[in-house]
Amino acid sequence: MLNIAVMVSGGGTNLQAIIDAIENKKIGQAKISVVISSKKSAYALKRAENHGIKSVVVDKETYQTQEKITDEIIKVLKAENIDLVVLAGYMTILEKKLIDEYKEQIINIHPSLIPKYCGKGFYGMKVHQAVIEAGEVESGATVHFVDDGVDTGRILKQEKVQVTKEDTPETLAKKVLVVEHKILVETIQRICNNNFTVK
Ligand code: GRF
Repeated sequence: MLNIAVMVSGGGTNLQAIIDAIENKKIGQAKISVVISSKKSAYALKRAENHGIKSVVVDKETYQTQEKITDEIIKVLKAENIDLVVLAGYMTILEKKLIDEYKEQIINIHPSLIPKYCGKGFYGMKVHQAVIEAGEVESGATVHFVDDGVDTGRILKQEKVQVTKEDTPETLAKKVLVVEHKILVETIQRICNNNFTVK
């Protein structure tokens, strides 16, 4: 059984996609043991509660420093015996200590075709704004392992969407989000089937 921790900061639609895939048996042999949120207001926490999934808030308000946040996250991951950490809309850059502790066991979903429109400052709607402003004809989403760079780890899966002249950042975000959910679930499925190494 693959023990998964999902780390969130916002609406949690990627979390919901994983929950639904597990419940619909699209992902066999996996369990979300804990949801870790950087914000107590994240709707993702409500989604976890709706499905009886344990959640913890590890935020600046309670833990003050990034170091204390990192230590608390590691403590929770160890306590839950986590095999795979999924960053799903998690908006804080992970510290090296956590990445080293969970080398090639942390995956992230990014709303662009990495290496385009990624790295510092490229997140959420900013990504889609940049894609539209650049006049791109395609965009998409990427699932990658998290290493100590920003959005630079080994790419596990990507899928494209077409960008039309009528697209706005909002309509593009909606198209990309559908693909995010799809490739995140597919990647977790493949990790469960041992197609990717996770210690
Ligand atoms: C999504 O746009 C995703 O690309 C990024 O965070 C945003 C919110 O995701 N990673 P979610 O709805 O909170 O899963």
